[in-house]
Parts: sequence; C-alpha cells; structure tokens
Amino acid sequence: MNAFALRSLPLGVRLALVCLCGVLGIGLAASLQHLRWHYEKRDERPGFTMDDVTGAYHGMQSVAPLRVALERGHPETTSQADREALLDWLLGKKDAAGKRPKQGNPSLGSDYDSIDLGDKAPIELIRANCLECHAKSAAATHAIAKQFPLDSWDDVRGFAISREINPTDPKKLAISIHAHALSLGVMALVVSGLFWCTAWPRKIVSAVILVTCAGLLADFVGQLAARDYVAGVWFIMAGGAAANGLMGLMLLAVVVDVIRPARKEA
Ligand code: HEC
Repeated sequence: MNAFALRSLPLGVRLALVCLCGVLGIGLAASLQHLRWHYEKRDERPGFTMDDVTGAYHGMQSVAPLRVALERGHPETTSQADREALLDWLLGKKDAAGKRPKQGNPSLGSDYDSIDLGDKAPIELIRANCLECHAKSAAATHAIAKQFPLDSWDDVRGFAISREINPTDPKKLAISIHAHALSLGVMALVVSGLFWCTAWPRKIVSAVILVTCAGLLADFVGQLAARDYVAGVWFIMAGGAAANGLMGLMLLAVVVDVIRPARKEA
C-alpha cells in the first residue's frame, strides 16, 4: 500500500525510532506540565482554567473570589450585617447615595486586622463566619480549605483583590511564538511523516494528520488574534489540545506499528 513502510526497516532502525518516539512523547508530556505551571496563576486563582489562558492572551478583569462568594449569598449562615461589613471592607463603604467608591478600599490590608473595627474587623468576621470550613486545619473534612484557605492575610489577600490582568507583552509573545511555531511545526511534520509510513488505514492516517496540522495552525492564529478577539482563546485551547493530543497518539501508533510482529504472508 505504502511506497515506504517503517516496518520494512531493519530491526535496529525500528528500535531507534521507538526511542525517538519516546523522547518526543516525554517532550510533549513535559510541555503539558510546563503549560499548567506557567499559566495556572495567571488569573490569580489556584488551578489551571480557561481564565488563565484568557488572562494570558487577551487580558481580563479578575473579580475577587471573596466578593463573588459574598454577593452570591455564600455562606447562608452569615448574617446580613456581617456580609455587608465584609463587602464594605472589600469594596469600600457606600456613600449617602448608596454608591461604593470607584477606587474601592485603598486600605484593604491595614483594615483587615484593624483594632479600631473591633468585632467587625474582617479578621474577626472571617474567623467567626468562615474558618469552620476554610481553615487549613479543616482541610481533612472540608476540601474547599485546600483551594481557598482563609487563615491569614497572606491567604486572604489573593482572594480579596479584584484587578485587571494584562495580556502577555507582544514582544514576549513573539519570542514564544518564534520558538514554538518553528519547533512544533517541524515536529508535526516529522511525526506526520512517520505516521504516514505506517500500515494504519490511509483514510484514518490522512484525517489525523489533517486535524493535527489544522489544530496547530488554529493554535498559533489564536495566539496572534486573542489579544484583540477573545474568541482566539478558543482557537488556542481547541487547536492546541487537538494538535498535541493527536501528536501523542501518532507517536504511540508509530511505536505499535514498528514493534508488532510481522504478519505471516498467506
Ligand atoms: C459550612 C462550610 C463553609 C463556610 C462556613 C464558608 N464556606 Fe466558603 N465554601 C464552602 C464550600 C463547600 C465551597 C465550594 C463551593 C460551594 O459549594 O458553595 C466554598 C467556596 C467558597 C469560595 C470559592 C468561590 C465560590 O464562590 O465558590 C470562597 C471565596 C468562599 N467560599 C469564601 C467564604 C467566606 C468569605 C466565608 C465566610 C464569610 C465562607 N466561605 C464560609 C464552604 C464554606
């Protein structure tokens, strides 16, 4: 079927190919891990989510999780007065017209454990209303305490501040793209070429190669476009996942192809 079949190569060369596929597979796994570590804090929240990618490539407004939680009525057990006191702290006190100051509360940190506020100091309100579930020591029974611990100002600060997340500087983006587009482009070419020379069904092979290469293109076009168009983030996510996932799959398929026992000629 194939003009050139990997399986017709001598055993030594086939084993060498298995090694190289292993190297490329490890590279793919490492870049996945790097991606998560590099971006997971972009939205200033734990965990790698779509918001991290949006923050990195498009920029976004990050709303403090404490505010989100309090405004959605969480936890139900907190009195209206305590809830208002915490929101006053996070967002600044309302004026006579019921409007909060535009700049928020500039003394968020010093008010946190302000003695003047007495029982209404955020540190006290959080201790009374939240630590039952959000103290690190409660993590065994309340899983949420691991992701959102509220024990000290160091813990609370990251969840108390809303801010603008700026997309990566265009110069840095260019550095990243020039390295990745060239290396991933060549890698896709090599992996596709190897996959083409296997005995797997031609239709599947060409479909997988097409989706991989289209995914890679979508990923990089998305990276360029995401600064201006948030939809670009979807191209990055879907294209990147398709291209890298399928490259991993192709490597596996190549390994299987070169090591499986030869079929007995009828
Ligand atoms: C009875 C246990 C409990 C108490 C008390 C509690 N929480 Fe939570 N909290 C949770 C759980 C469980 C979640 C996970 C989401 C959910 O199920 O609502 C959560 C989620 C959150 C989140 C993550 C964002 C979100 O909106 O889901 C924040 C922030 C938060 N809580 C803040 C607070 C604050 C501030 C207080 C005190 C005023 C508080 N919690 C009191 C159990 C608690």
